[in-house]
Amino acid sequence: MTIDGKTVLVTGANRGIGQALVTEALARGASRVYAGTRQPLAHPDARVTPLTLDVTDAAQIQAAVESVESLDILINNAGIALYDDLSDRAVLEQHLAVNFFGTYGVTQAFLPLLTRTRGAIVNNVSTMAVAPFPLTPAYAISKAAAFNLSQSLRALLGGRGVRVHAVLTGPTDTDMTRGFEVPKASPESVARAIFDGVENGEEEIFPDSMSQSLADSWRNGAVKAMERENAAFVPAEPAAA
Ligand SMILES: NC(=O)c1ccc[n+]([C@@H]2O[C@H](COP(=O)([O-])OP(=O)(O)OC[C@H]3O[C@@H](n4cnc5c(N)ncnc54)[C@H](OP(=O)(O)O)[C@@H]3O)[C@@H](O)[C@H]2O)c1
Repeated sequence: MTIDGKTVLVTGANRGIGQALVTEALARGASRVYAGTRQPLAHPDARVTPLTLDVTDAAQIQAAVESVESLDILINNAGIALYDDLSDRAVLEQHLAVNFFGTYGVTQAFLPLLTRTRGAIVNNVSTMAVAPFPLTPAYAISKAAAFNLSQSLRALLGGRGVRVHAVLTGPTDTDMTRGFEVPKASPESVARAIFDGVENGEEEIFPDSMSQSLADSWRNGAVKAMERENAAFVPAEPAAA
């Protein structure tokens, strides 16, 4: 799939990786970029259509679907990350509400449009989905759930021609990692690598040097092989009449 001429929707589009994804989609010739944000957004490029979209708000999701005519690529990027120690159930629920149920809700709502275009879903997950960082365990749990969701959706939607990409992003220099002193990738380089991965049909995308260290062992590993074996149990779609 090439981005040129495609319609793309990015959630959490006003800052960080989401903002960089909007810029990169435009640079690659996207015909329309729907920028989902919680606060009103103005963008100088006429191809950008702002959408009011809190991913935890079912009414806003529905209104967004009704204002989008056609969609090729949905990028579930909106996310939160708070420090915690798993002692407070409310913090876990907060992460699940945005990072997991937000991704789930937006995906289900846009699925009819994506099926029509035989499009793609891109879930910005995290390396923490597979290797949790113990200072943000609630975040890691929500990302593990979103990753597992991506794997099941990939199997369930493959027959309808909808591809599902999971981005195992490593530390990136955004508000989310402010004050956390580790080497970080730029949001612009991560956005470029995400679209490269989509264009190259990579199921898992490792968009920075830290996450790249997982790529070979993941792609050639026993877990990926088992995911493919399990996917074969999905009944084939009946041929179109
Ligand atoms: N930065 C990293 O190191 C890193 C690593 C791995 C994965 N990721 C993932 O990458 C994605 C983007 O993160 P980032 O680093 O760009 O973080 P960021 O700069 O903190 O941006 C987070 C974005 O998510 C939006 N958001 C939060 N809650 C939302 C909700 N309920 N509905 C809609 N939008 C919501 C924010 O909107 P507001 O401005 O309205 O708050 C903002 O646009 C996240 O899913 C994150 O988990 C980031």
